Amino acid sequence: MTQAKLSADVLIDTLRIFELNNRSISEAARQVNVNRTTFAHRLKTAQALLSDDRPQIFDAARWTYPRMISIDAPKTRWIIGSDLHVWSGEPPVIYKAFIAVAKKLKVDGIILNGDIIDGARVSRHPAIRGSAAPKIEVEIETAKRWLKMLPNAQHKLWTMGNHDLRIDSYIASNANELSNYIISLAEHFPAWKFSFAFEINQTFEVRHRFRGGIHGAWNNTLHSGINIATGHTHQLQVTAMRDRNGSRWGIETGSLADPFGPQFEYAEGAPSRAQMGFAVVTFDEDGRMMPPELCEMVGGRPVFRGDHVL
Ligand SMILES: [Fe+2]
Repeated sequence: MTQAKLSADVLIDTLRIFELNNRSISEAARQVNVNRTTFAHRLKTAQALLSDDRPQIFDAARWTYPRMISIDAPKTRWIIGSDLHVWSGEPPVIYKAFIAVAKKLKVDGIILNGDIIDGARVSRHPAIRGSAAPKIEVEIETAKRWLKMLPNAQHKLWTMGNHDLRIDSYIASNANELSNYIISLAEHFPAWKFSFAFEINQTFEVRHRFRGGIHGAWNNTLHSGINIATGHTHQLQVTAMRDRNGSRWGIETGSLADPFGPQFEYAEGAPSRAQMGFAVVTFDEDGRMMPPELCEMVGGRPVFRGDHVL
């Protein structure tokens, strides 16, 4: 097959995809499944021909939060916790363990894997009469206070969870005229980098949610084709996928909230696989992910690597 000359349509689309991927050549190349050099060449041609003619489509194509941010960080250790569902008051014991392990291991990165805010009062679900759900401003101020308890780390990432999105959605639905006046959730937490997903060392994806059910972790690594950590299900588990490409891991990061907290009254206290805990992952100097480690509650105490954390 001979290579036809690139059409204007493809060149415009090249610029659009570049914008959509936060102006990252590597990520844009991956989206269209060409190598980096090919995309870089296509982009150069497009920019030379269309430099001052950037159609509105680029703005329309942009997501409110990035779709994916890639980070190269070999020889690093990360702590990943999700579903804190902050209301008010003091943090649960499992969150205190999250802080303690992050400090003890001197982690290079902390990932809040979504649903840090609960947003009960701006939920589309009916309110429960007599519920003590706090105002959004209380949740945000409480979250700020709790997040300040974490040690500093080189990478501080936050994947958008469906509950986190409630706040921006509420503003968009009920006060869109004020959307430039009221700051977004991300603007309340400038120390954190927000995205729907992060990819670390091109071998590990972290996102709030993907597949559900009892085999969520298994299906996530099966269908993503790489190591992956998700929250949302509040299940805490690691499954190994072994195939001709070697081993890879599906991780569900449990919950940093107490499953019997008032945030979960809607579940009526029914039996559930929700489990308090979090995960730690380590990469070697080649960016290979080591088998993940979990912290979970045993006998009412958080345990990590066989020892009580608190
Ligand atoms: Fe969620």
